[in-house]
Amino acid sequence: MKAKITINNLDIIGEIDQRIYGSFIEHLGRAIYGGIYDPLHESADDMGFRKDVLELVKSLNVPIVRYPGGNFVSNYKWEDGTGDRSKRPRKLELAWNSVETNEIGIDEFQEWAKRSDTEIMMTVNLGTRGAVEASNLVEYCNLNTGTYYAEMRRKNGFDKPFGIKLWCLGNEMDGDWQIGHKTAQEYARLACETAKLMKLTDPTIELVACGSSGPLMPTFGEWERTVLRECYDHVDYLSLHSYYGNPDNDTSDYLASSMDMEQFIIDTARICDEVKAEKKSDKDINLSFDEWNIWFHSNEQDKHIEHWQVAPPLLEDIYNVEDALVVGCLLITLLRHCDRVKIACLAQLVNVIAPIMTETGGRSWVQTIFYPFLHCSVNGRGKALRTVCECGTYNTKNHSNVPYIESITVQNGNDITLFAVNRSSDESCELELKGFEGYCPVSHTVLTNDDMKRCNSADEPDAISPVQQKIGEEVILAPRSWNMIKFTAK
Ligand code: AHR
Repeated sequence: MKAKITINNLDIIGEIDQRIYGSFIEHLGRAIYGGIYDPLHESADDMGFRKDVLELVKSLNVPIVRYPGGNFVSNYKWEDGTGDRSKRPRKLELAWNSVETNEIGIDEFQEWAKRSDTEIMMTVNLGTRGAVEASNLVEYCNLNTGTYYAEMRRKNGFDKPFGIKLWCLGNEMDGDWQIGHKTAQEYARLACETAKLMKLTDPTIELVACGSSGPLMPTFGEWERTVLRECYDHVDYLSLHSYYGNPDNDTSDYLASSMDMEQFIIDTARICDEVKAEKKSDKDINLSFDEWNIWFHSNEQDKHIEHWQVAPPLLEDIYNVEDALVVGCLLITLLRHCDRVKIACLAQLVNVIAPIMTETGGRSWVQTIFYPFLHCSVNGRGKALRTVCECGTYNTKNHSNVPYIESITVQNGNDITLFAVNRSSDESCELELKGFEGYCPVSHTVLTNDDMKRCNSADEPDAISPVQQKIGEEVILAPRSWNMIKFTAK
C-alpha cells in the first residue's frame, strides 16, 4: 500500500499548548496508596513517595496532573487532607466504595508534584459542596493575605503558596453516577457563582467548566449550551471526557476510535462558537479534554472487588499493542485540534487505567500505552502542521471511510516530527512525502508486534517496547504500527 503525506510549513494548525500532555491522579484504587506513595517501599523518599515512580513520571514530561478526582472529588472535604496527619479522619469513600485514610492530601500532593516537575490542575467539589468551600481552597493554596485559610496553610508548615493556576469546576456533573449529580441548569448556576467567587479570591486562576462526560450522554449538546450561556464570561475552558474500548474484539473497528474523539471535539467546539456568537463575545472558550484513555479491560474484575478496602486494585487495565495504537491515534487527533484543545489529561497516570504500573511494595514497569504518550510528550512540542494524507480507507461495523493511515506533523525549530499509525492488519505502507524536501530523516521509532494482544508485565517489562528502524530511501510503516519519524533541516 502507498500513501502520500503533504505538508507546508507555512500551513500551521496552531501552537501546541504543552498542557495537552497532562495526566491525572485520583484518590482511586492504588493510584496514590501503593502507586505514587508507598512509605515502606525500598525506593521511598523522605515523604514516602516512590522514587522509581517519580523517575518514570518525570520521563513522561507531564506538565500538569489533574487532582484529586474524578468521581472522588464530588464528596471530598479538602480540609481532611491537610494539617496534622495523625488527626486526619478515615472516611468512607462513596464514589469507589473504598476507605480513604487521608494520609495524602493537597499538603503532600503539591510536594509530589514539585518532585515530579509538574503542576497541579485542581478539581473542586461541586457535588456535595459549593462556592464557599471552593474559594476557601483557592485561598488555602494561593494566597498570602494573613487571612484564615492562608494562615491555616502557613500553620500547616507551608509559608509559600502552592500557586495552583488551573482549576476544574467539579467533575462530570452531568452523570447520574456522580455524587451530587445536577441538571444542566442547576450546575450552570452553581458553576457560575463558584467561578465568580474563586476568581474574586485569585483573579489569576483559569477555570474549566464541566462539559459532557461523553458524546453519548443524552444531554450532550444541551448541557454545553446551558452551561456556557450561564458561565461564558467567567470560565476559560469547557471539559470533554471520553474513554474507548474493544469489548467485541473487533480490532479494525477499535482502531477507528479516534474518529469518535474527533467528532466529539468538532461538535463541542461548534457549540462553544455558537454561544460566542449568541453573546456577541470576542472571547473564545477553548477545550480541556481532561479525561481520555482506554478503559474496558478491568470492567469485569472490578465487579468482584470487595467494598470498603483501603486502596483496592480498581481499574487496573492491562494494555496490549492494539491499545497503544489507539492511544497513538487519539494523541494524533488531539494534536490535529491543538488550535482548540489547549489541555488534555491522559486518565490516569499510575495503576488506575495507567501507563505506569506498580506492585505495592514491589516492582514498577511501563505499559504499552506509555510509549506513544512518551514520544508525543517529549517530541511533539512546537507547532502542529496541517498534514494531508492521501491513502485508502476501510469500513467497519461502527465507522465508515476509516483512513488506513493516521498522521500529524509537528515542527519545532529546525526539526520536524511525523507521528503516524498504520491501521492495516496485513499491509505495510510506503510513504511519499511532499513538503519534506528541505529535511532529512534522522530516526524512525516503531512500536508493533505480530501479536496485537501482547502486554508488558512485572515479569516481562520489555515484552513490548519501541525499536529503531533503519533510515533508508523509503519510509515504510509496518502493518498495525505506531511510528515516530524525526527529520532535521538539511
Ligand atoms: O478516570 C476514572 C473515572 O472516570 C473518573 O473518576 C471519572 O471522572 C470518570 O468517569
